[in-house]
Amino acid sequence: MTPTMTAPALRATDLEAHWMPFTPNKAFKQAPRLLTSAKGVHYTNADGQQVLDGASGLWCVNAGHGREEIVQAMADAARTLDYAPGGFQLGHPLGFEAAKRVAALAPGDLDHVFFTNSGSESVDTALKIALAYWQSVGQPERVRFVGRLKGYHGVGFGGISVGGIEPNRRAYARQLLPHVDHLPHTHELAENWFSRGQPAHGAHLADALEAVIAKHGGGTIAAVIVEPVSGSAGVLVPPVGYLERLRAICDAHGILLIFDEVITGFGRVGTTFAAERFGVTPDLMTIAKGLTNGTVPMGAVIARGKIYEAVVNAAASGIEFFHGYTYSAHPMACAAAIATMDIHAREGLAARSRATEGHFEQAIHSLRGFPNVRDVRNFGLMGAVELEPREGKPGARGLDVHIDCFWKGALVRITGDTLAIAPPLVISREQIDQLVDILGAAIKRAA
Ligand SMILES: Cc1ncc(COP(=O)(O)O)c(C=O)c1O
Repeated sequence: MTPTMTAPALRATDLEAHWMPFTPNKAFKQAPRLLTSAKGVHYTNADGQQVLDGASGLWCVNAGHGREEIVQAMADAARTLDYAPGGFQLGHPLGFEAAKRVAALAPGDLDHVFFTNSGSESVDTALKIALAYWQSVGQPERVRFVGRLKGYHGVGFGGISVGGIEPNRRAYARQLLPHVDHLPHTHELAENWFSRGQPAHGAHLADALEAVIAKHGGGTIAAVIVEPVSGSAGVLVPPVGYLERLRAICDAHGILLIFDEVITGFGRVGTTFAAERFGVTPDLMTIAKGLTNGTVPMGAVIARGKIYEAVVNAAASGIEFFHGYTYSAHPMACAAAIATMDIHAREGLAARSRATEGHFEQAIHSLRGFPNVRDVRNFGLMGAVELEPREGKPGARGLDVHIDCFWKGALVRITGDTLAIAPPLVISREQIDQLVDILGAAIKRAA
């Protein structure tokens, strides 16, 4: 069926009803950037131009756009079982199969999967699981969470409370979760300019957790949550030894460690999950985005067996964990996830991303020395180019570059004046060069 409004015919009034997330609505609707179709590593915009997708949509289309196999699996699922609860005292085979497949991919004994519909829901679910776990094992006084400055964990009240991106918290600051501390971020530019891969300096920043423990007592802390590589704050790569140190401190004080792998999961950093690449296994892991290749909303929390067992065994009878969503393990999402995991396995996408990362690194670091470029950094197929802000106008230069790139045929993400690049893992070397050429030219024009 054709949509009633085709993009080229959209007028300003047609755009009014849609209150767009994380967008300056008024400015955007004056000059909208609309995407109408996608295939491979390209979008087509409303003017019919090809736009090279340097952002995997929103860090999610890791296997590239328009994968027929996923579309087919979703269509089959929708036709066969349009909806069935994946919980609430009912289940369906696709939910169990999808969970088994996700558990098989996860490292260590992360082997139980609770489905959600987004990264934000995964984060809030993980925080609740942590609290439920401590209740179950007789340590209900462990209620504190520790997040990190510049951390992004979605937009639920839990996520913004543990998150550390100031504008996302400001309007709600009086109603955030209590008992939350934040570690310092690891964006130490003075020491780590133009780092390639993990920066050398900054493992000691994990020791700030010791200070939080000294202040409140380790026995009051339920969990620490971090992104192994911060994505939304502009690709902040953990310093060598940092995650290992966080893990060791958590272990010493019995604190659960949550890795938010919503962006880093599904091959983005050259292994299925960043936990594998860094050799650090968390107790809970949140995922979303790449799980269904962005085709349909789905997220999950992957929990260690001991956490699941503790919560389930602690309940005398009846429901053990009072939490869930109508669309947890939605049949169509499960089908999409299974088809996505099939593609990853068959095409070895994590290995492919690993094989491409060296070229990616060279390409984006070629922008060093361009006007106003104050840093370039990368890890796996995630990279960032940080620009000097314009005097008194933070974010303006970044936005100009983003918009310019779009009209010149490349999509890159912006966070303030930082451009983030995270192409589909199937991107070719030539396409990476093309992307960086478009970005470089836009950076020069914005000078
Ligand atoms: C690390 C991380 N956690 C959580 C989220 C929130 O995911 P969603 O937008 O699907 O709620 C994001 C989104 O970018 C993310 O990067």
